[in-house]
Amino acid sequence: MRVYPRCGIPLKLQRRSVVVKTSVPGLLLDSGPNGMSRFRVQTELASAELFLHGAHLAAWQPADHRPVLWLSGNSWFEAGKPIRGGVPICFPWFGPHPQDSALPAHGTARLQEWQLQTASSGPDGVIRLLLQSMIGSFIVRYELGIGRELHLQLTCELSATVTQAERFEAALHTYFAVSDILAVQITGLENAGFMNKVPQLERCEPTGEAIRFSEETDRVYQNTPDTVVLHDPGLQRKISVSKQGSLSTVIWNPWIDKSRRMPDFGDDEWTGMVCIETACVGDHAIVLQPGQSHQMSATICVS
Ligand code: BG6
Repeated sequence: MRVYPRCGIPLKLQRRSVVVKTSVPGLLLDSGPNGMSRFRVQTELASAELFLHGAHLAAWQPADHRPVLWLSGNSWFEAGKPIRGGVPICFPWFGPHPQDSALPAHGTARLQEWQLQTASSGPDGVIRLLLQSMIGSFIVRYELGIGRELHLQLTCELSATVTQAERFEAALHTYFAVSDILAVQITGLENAGFMNKVPQLERCEPTGEAIRFSEETDRVYQNTPDTVVLHDPGLQRKISVSKQGSLSTVIWNPWIDKSRRMPDFGDDEWTGMVCIETACVGDHAIVLQPGQSHQMSATICVS
């Protein structure tokens, strides 16, 4: 019988709509909408939900805080479709495929089932999960540290069996819940140039100012090693995203018309979310030689 290593949970249990305790305190296994396999974290430090579909973190809420991640009420939970909200993993390309528009936007990582490799709870109370998937010629490992802070790390290794270098793009497409998109601002990107995707693709110089929202916003900021902070006066909180191995940051809010065009996004939901995506895309895509790997990580804190 196949089991999740270290958890000792038979794989077939993931199909049942029962809650199963794992051998890791605070880590439960159940099924979410449409019977999708889901791990639930419930500790003194935080609660969280993680689907094996797309290795998709759908919720994270540190103790004494409101939910940090946003999830659409219209999300699909279906094989072959991405979950809308939380932290989709975009890999091995970002946006439309550069050559074949029939391929899914943002790559295939968010559409496939991942394997749980290990799960543990440290003396610090943080639950650590490691998932893995083979995507094209890449072995992709995703490590999550779930506690008062959220640590996400994506390691992409090009198989040593291929004969030539390969390029990839990756993003932790993080959707944050906000009180009101009109009231929030984002700092940390004032000095970064960006590719503006709306109204049409255009390379823009740094603005020198914090980002505020008054229209559809879809920007890929370049050369962004620094911490980005989301200031939300309505929720009286700041969310910081510090990162390593990522030189792009994507900021996205679909605003009114695009929200209406997306079937898995509520018409009015744009007011309550913003994406700050830790990424390696465009000018900062990664090229690996066979056997080489690249690590990108984000640490998210609420204060
Ligand atoms: C953002 C892109 O990262 O994701 C946008 O910059 C895109 O252009 C958005 O619309 C959502 O993409 P999707 O494929 O999840 O609808």
